[in-house]
Amino acid sequence: MRIIAFGASYSSGSINREWARYVSSQISETQLEVLNLNDYDLPVYTVEREKKGIPPAVNSFISKLKSADLLVISFAEYNGSYTAGFKNLFDWASVHTLKMFEGKKLILLSTAPGPRGGKTVLSAAIDRFPQHGADIIGTMSLPRFNQNFDPTKGILDVELKKDFEKLLKNVKQKINE
Ligand SMILES: Cc1cc2nc3c(=O)[nH]c(=O)nc-3n(C[C@H](O)[C@H](O)[C@H](O)COP(=O)(O)O)c2cc1C
Repeated sequence: MRIIAFGASYSSGSINREWARYVSSQISETQLEVLNLNDYDLPVYTVEREKKGIPPAVNSFISKLKSADLLVISFAEYNGSYTAGFKNLFDWASVHTLKMFEGKKLILLSTAPGPRGGKTVLSAAIDRFPQHGADIIGTMSLPRFNQNFDPTKGILDVELKKDFEKLLKNVKQKINE
């Protein structure tokens, strides 16, 4: 099974990329590719720019989505919403292929240094992504990333770890359905 994972952030040290990588690695390490959105550097979307042609980076991003059996996306939250960088990529992707997630299973995640763990942006994506064809098979937000996560030990908080184990069990079942 080919997994494509990314953090919906252009920060080079994105904690959401790390969270998406970790969750994916607990499902399967064999065919995991973690994207860095900096490889999809794009001008701000405008109708006039679209008329001049969709940039090749958009096509590359869509090709990665299409190559996946499972997509694992973790959303960084800026001011209660998507990061501007991700929203721009998403807007470009939607004018290229509106149903960019058609036929794909997705796990949607979020994390943040704060106590809400990016729940607001995660809810927005859970509401919106089915309109782009997404079959969302699991979701989880991880609050207080720096206290609750260790790169080698994984989730440190006992209750959050239980939630995570439930998520893994459910998604593994849904992947095999
Ligand atoms: C402009 C800006 C706005 C932010 N707004 C929020 C917010 O609304 N909620 C939140 O939980 N964290 C917020 N943060 C903190 C981010 O969650 C934090 O920077 C996090 O590391 C972003 O994820 P990333 O490392 O994957 O890019 C904000 C950070 C910035 C720079």
